[in-house]
Amino acid sequence: MPQSLKIIYQVAPDAEALAARAAQYFVEQAERAVAARGQAHIAISGGSTPKAAFALLADSTQPWRARMPWPKLDLWWVDERCVPPDDPDSNYRMTREALLDHVPLQPEQIHRIEGELPPEAAAARYESELRNAFRLEGAELPRFDAVALGMGPDGHTASLFPHTQALEDLGRLAVANHVQAKDSWRVTLTWPVINHASQVFFLIAGADKAQILKEVWMGPRDPERLPSQLIRPAGGILTLLLDRAAAAQLPEPDAEGCGTLERNQ
Ligand code: 6PG
Repeated sequence: MPQSLKIIYQVAPDAEALAARAAQYFVEQAERAVAARGQAHIAISGGSTPKAAFALLADSTQPWRARMPWPKLDLWWVDERCVPPDDPDSNYRMTREALLDHVPLQPEQIHRIEGELPPEAAAARYESELRNAFRLEGAELPRFDAVALGMGPDGHTASLFPHTQALEDLGRLAVANHVQAKDSWRVTLTWPVINHASQVFFLIAGADKAQILKEVWMGPRDPERLPSQLIRPAGGILTLLLDRAAAAQLPEPDAEGCGTLERNQ
């Protein structure tokens, strides 16, 4: 019987409020992990949506920078474009400019995917770094305390794009994935690794995501076409942080802006 999935969605009035909610959520996840284990390993996505939340985390006039347990935080990436770290397309560069250049993380706390390497070599080195940092043996998976995902208008997440090889690469922690639609190579965590995390949340904004968001989480199961449907955290709960525009085709949330969906397929 397929595992049931409870989807909890929180709807912010606009993109600015969503960024503040996301900054709060990042801090809460880090605080929870540090309180429980003295350490927090968080994997972040690239793209454009997270930038505003990263800027708030970096802003010393906002409450989150002072609250974040920076010395206990290890930052990982969910995926990376196979470009050098100073390339305009680099997820690392976006994060460095919005966040890393402004917060007290030491180089050893920052685990970037080396997009400048040949794709498979970058994936292998990232996998090796994961195995070392999480002290993995055999087929063990790393358990991130939180994984932050985005979703593209085609239903992809991480660099798990529709009808690409990475959707099938289950025996690995990270893989190189050629994305025909973008004529480019990516490195991505595999979906079993993402699902093994303690908390997985999507951060999605914009009216252009409303239709695909409804298809992914309310429509029939078709993960080859809608890879975001592969994200089913082992704990059975998935959190969506949305702005009102992205949530427009979901059932109206309650007075606090919260809603839930159940998926059993
Ligand atoms: C990437 C991301 C990717 C992103 C989605 C949404 O490398 O681009 O990891 O999965 O999260 O494409 O991107 P936006 O936030 O720009 O809509």
